[in-house]
Amino acid sequence: MTKTYTLITGASEGIGKELAWFAARDGRNVILSARSEDKLIELAETLRKDFNVETVVLLADLSDTSAAQTLWEKATEGRTVDTVVNNAGLGRNGAFADGDWDRELTSINVNLLALTDLMKRAIPHMKEHGKGRILNVASTAAFMPGPGMAVYHATKAYVLSLSEAVAEELRGTNVTVTALCPGATQTDFFDQADMHDVRLIKMGRLATAKQVAEAGWTAMRGGHRVAVHGGINKLFAFLPRIVPRSFVAVIAKQFLART
Ligand SMILES: NC(=O)c1ccc[n+]([C@@H]2O[C@H](COP(=O)([O-])OP(=O)(O)OC[C@H]3O[C@@H](n4cnc5c(N)ncnc54)[C@H](OP(=O)(O)O)[C@@H]3O)[C@@H](O)[C@H]2O)c1
Repeated sequence: MTKTYTLITGASEGIGKELAWFAARDGRNVILSARSEDKLIELAETLRKDFNVETVVLLADLSDTSAAQTLWEKATEGRTVDTVVNNAGLGRNGAFADGDWDRELTSINVNLLALTDLMKRAIPHMKEHGKGRILNVASTAAFMPGPGMAVYHATKAYVLSLSEAVAEELRGTNVTVTALCPGATQTDFFDQADMHDVRLIKMGRLATAKQVAEAGWTAMRGGHRVAVHGGINKLFAFLPRIVPRSFVAVIAKQFLART
């Protein structure tokens, strides 16, 4: 029987690292991708030893607009990739008009362009091989505008919309697309985005990366289209359906404000 692989982007840290753990736990061979070589090699060795699966490390800086193509070509060199986890992502906190376009442009390239590129390449490959699963890590940010994190919220709204639309296009095929929408989660994300003093982070106990990854992995395996992790997050996801979006923007602004 041909060996199949699960490709995971952003596998060096946080939610992606935990998703790699669930994939390997299920006996799946994994292709781990990110920029941090040492972390990926260490994880690859651990998963190989603990679960007796094949592990491949492929470095990629997905802010480079040709990186997704190169990553896909390397991943499928003599391999069948039947699961793709588009997890790599980043954000920036701060008013849209103030500074740091570089980080926002990077976030557009990683969160949105690379994800779309990998989906475009993966779906025909999966159809050809008769089955496939795609898990796109969006966010509860996808459900609402985010004053103070406008570009990040917009990238995640794109990911959710794209995932749901393509999932419908694929109805009746053996290929599914799932959007995972975590709320605030204990990872390096907030350090990277310089968000220590943001109200949302200080509000209470955040979910662990493992809890979020488990919810996403389970939803993907079940072929569900959207998975929102956590009761409060489900409420936040529902809110924009019953109150005007302008009001939702005011609430989101409070949560994203520095205290
Ligand atoms: N934490 C949260 O509260 C939260 C909530 C909702 C959604 N999410 C989403 O969950 C996903 C994972 O985030 P996380 O919380 O686990 O954050 P994290 O711990 O900061 O991990 C981010 C991952 O993305 C990779 N990455 C960042 N820039 C990259 C680039 N230019 N090229 C390739 N890989 C890159 C990082 O690897 P390297 O640095 O090694 O490249 C790392 O593996 C993201 O899409 C994020 O938007 C997070």
